[in-house]
Amino acid sequence: MIANTRWLFTAMCLIFIFEANSQNADSAYGERYRPQIHFSPKKGWMNDPNGMVYFNGKYHLFFQHNPNSTVWGPMHWGHAISTDLVHWKELPIALYPDALGTIFSGSAVIDKNNTAGFGANAMVAIFTSHNHTMEKEGFEKVETQSIAYSSDEGNTWTKYKGNPVLPNPGIRDFRDPKVTWHEPTQKWIMTLATKDHITFYSSADLKNWSEESKFGKNSGAHGGVWECPDLFPLNYEGKEIWILIVNIGSGGPNGGSATQYFTGHFDGHHFTANDAETKWLDYGVDNYAGITWSNTGDKKIFIGWMSNWAYANVVPTVNWRSANTFARELAIKKAGEKYFVSSVPVAEINLLKAASYNAKKIKAGNINITSKAGKMNGAAILNLTTDHLKSFRIILSNNAGEKLLLGYNEKTDQYYIDRSRSGNIAFAKDFGQKITAPRLTTENNADLTLIIDAASVELFADKGLSVLTAIFFPTSHYTHITLTSDDGILINQLNFTHLNSIWK
Ligand code: FRU
Repeated sequence: MIANTRWLFTAMCLIFIFEANSQNADSAYGERYRPQIHFSPKKGWMNDPNGMVYFNGKYHLFFQHNPNSTVWGPMHWGHAISTDLVHWKELPIALYPDALGTIFSGSAVIDKNNTAGFGANAMVAIFTSHNHTMEKEGFEKVETQSIAYSSDEGNTWTKYKGNPVLPNPGIRDFRDPKVTWHEPTQKWIMTLATKDHITFYSSADLKNWSEESKFGKNSGAHGGVWECPDLFPLNYEGKEIWILIVNIGSGGPNGGSATQYFTGHFDGHHFTANDAETKWLDYGVDNYAGITWSNTGDKKIFIGWMSNWAYANVVPTVNWRSANTFARELAIKKAGEKYFVSSVPVAEINLLKAASYNAKKIKAGNINITSKAGKMNGAAILNLTTDHLKSFRIILSNNAGEKLLLGYNEKTDQYYIDRSRSGNIAFAKDFGQKITAPRLTTENNADLTLIIDAASVELFADKGLSVLTAIFFPTSHYTHITLTSDDGILINQLNFTHLNSIWK
């Protein structure tokens, strides 16, 4: 009898485990906090986006990936593709650790002219090999640059036999190569983060690299080691302006990791900055290590890792950790006499639009948007415009009384996101701190776009001049959204649109 009961109990447990597992499998991309319109890995850990390259109608997105754990560890390059920058399909892992080390961040190019000899149009990845064994033994020269190539659109890869192609000159932090073709000099340019500055290298064949110049020891923010750079031109009213992106692991404008950039000129050898000001691509705390796609012509599309090294390893997700930002298109904007880089969500977000609510010329007061547009149960986008910006506040909330506040404060002339009452904030010190972005434009009229997902909000103000990205972890989904303004801001146009999940 006892034996029978035990057997029954064991059988019931097995059925329960089986059901739980199959439920998990069914609910892949449906778990708590799982972004519905942002890329996240099916399972395991993800950090920096890597090797983004457009080829044959597909946007390739590789990423720093620890497939067997939800914390940072031995780095591989995960791989996903998209035809529209919105819907992503995760593919098998592209690059595995090897004798030279684990695979740290880097970039990918299409070698149209077969400069490297791997075949015309080979996809070539240029990445940092990080040798943990040497690191444990106390060596300084643990990071070198290596290459790998693929002749089948990134599905299978061959590491180059002559790796590393760029040995370490004696700098501990020597990583994250971003390579681009420089037409006027007919050379590949590698922009490399070398501790507290950038070193530019050039090559005719992706295999032999010579140093060109250094930039930045005394420029910009230095609250952390320089990482993940990018270099590209943007056009402003017929004028070519070069942008140098430099990520820093800590010391961002609101604490922790952030992305700074310089505007200036690159002549194939040297980068010269226009001004000495430190500029931030995104003032938020959750947009790091972002760079742009290569091979997209004049259009520059950026994506970042939507987390921060201050807490990335402990955010309360279960089967996976971290998502990317929504893909953003970069442009130059002038405010006063200075050039800034603006970012706005790529237009393809329109592909996800479902039911929407529109209003014109409303004085807020207190507008309960979801009472008109229907409760949020997934992602959404909110757009509003005003001719005369005054203080206002948008509140995302749930039935548990948790809220995320964001908006504009006229006194300080800042946009802000306040996560102090947003839900679970206890896993990291300072997670509840209010974050702010200065208003850069000098105009009275304003526009605001919010992209809201299960665990993130991206705020784009003034056509993407002031940007704030932040993640959050409420105990249940935010279902309500309201807009309030003590000063009675007059909203010209308000549009709230529910967005369909990219995983369904
Ligand atoms: C940035 C970074 C890179 C490095 C990678 C390792 O987040 O630290 O500098 O290549 O992550 O995963």
